Amino acid sequence: MPQLAKRFENLPEYVLARIPQRKHELLKRGVDVIDLGAGDADLMPPEAALRRLGEVIYIPQMNRYGFGLGLVQFREVVSAWMEKRFGLKFDPLREIVPLIGSKEGISHLALAYMEPGRVAIVPEPGYNSYIGGSLLSGGEVYKYALRPRTKFLVELDEIPAEVLKRAKVLYLNYPNNPTAAVAPREYLERVVKRCRELDILLVYDNAYSEMAFDGYVPPSIFEIDGARDVAIEFHSLSKTYNMTGWRCGWAVARPEIASALSKVKSFVDTGQFMAVQAAAVAALECWDTFVPKNRAIFAERRDAAVDAFRAAGFECEAPKATMYLWIPLPNDIPSAVFAERLMEEEGVIVLPGSGFGAGGEGFFRISFITSPGRIAEAAQRAGRVLQAMTSKTARESRATAGVA
Ligand SMILES: Cc1ncc(COP(=O)(O)O)c(C=O)c1O
Repeated sequence: MPQLAKRFENLPEYVLARIPQRKHELLKRGVDVIDLGAGDADLMPPEAALRRLGEVIYIPQMNRYGFGLGLVQFREVVSAWMEKRFGLKFDPLREIVPLIGSKEGISHLALAYMEPGRVAIVPEPGYNSYIGGSLLSGGEVYKYALRPRTKFLVELDEIPAEVLKRAKVLYLNYPNNPTAAVAPREYLERVVKRCRELDILLVYDNAYSEMAFDGYVPPSIFEIDGARDVAIEFHSLSKTYNMTGWRCGWAVARPEIASALSKVKSFVDTGQFMAVQAAAVAALECWDTFVPKNRAIFAERRDAAVDAFRAAGFECEAPKATMYLWIPLPNDIPSAVFAERLMEEEGVIVLPGSGFGAGGEGFFRISFITSPGRIAEAAQRAGRVLQAMTSKTARESRATAGVA
């Protein structure tokens, strides 16, 4: 057997990799599965996007290679969207990079900036492509534990100076998956300033920029002075427009950084399907009519989820953004054991905090991606598992302490 590369062997298990297969097995056994695992809503994309795809698919040119340039109209509409949404101007050809989903761009970017000896600062728990891209590029990963202590913010000045000296990339994601934390502007100003001083590329993952509630409006990192010098920002149609399966997103950065990502991509893909880019144009253009309504559906689901999980015995706060609740577990319940029992005994899929790295232990994540009724049912089932596990651990600790 040919030997695998060391950097491959360093990759951890991907938290969602085995779940589709497990879900398939449960469904085959006739289990009534409620899947609150992936951030993948049961809602439809904008009608205009569906219609546009149906139309353009018959245009011969749309079926040919997109190459890195892709559909110029997609770049132009992304640029207009960034201006309308954040008041920021970007050159469609030099500062925007079309992506086959933002995950693709986030992982591939590391190939341009990481190498042995360089360090990437990665929040843990965090989206797995940060660590994936960094390790596959042969770089080192410094994991910063996101805990309630720092309001789930990465505080660069807590990181050893020796690590900061070798750090080339910092991944940040606010609104945050999985903790649902948001970043105050004052924090973003501090981070941009430090990244400029330390000459660190700030990779700002803004996948949830439109998934926010109660009047909160997430910013672009480029609203912060000086960010254009050091940052690249990633956006996605996946969550905003219920288009996860379409694999469409973009990166935005000054030309030097954008062209580094484009160059890597020119060796690993030949562009996003142009018909998808054309349909994405239709989605981006219907922001005003689609996004507020979609957001209201998620707000209702969020409230239902918070009420139901609280009633089932869990502590949780209503997040200002994202489609997730990051729920603490009592101390002695390992999150992987809880998630496994919940799936096997009750048919409810949630993600264990430890699946996002050791720093995520002590929590589990639910995605509020289905109807309030189903979420309430899932919470009741989770409550039963919690009760069984807490009474068992209480019995065990009484036994260890010699109490009858
Ligand atoms: C924080 C974060 N970034 C990026 C992505 C990837 O989105 P896309 O579907 O555009 O690859 C996700 C998807 O769950 C995410 O949670």
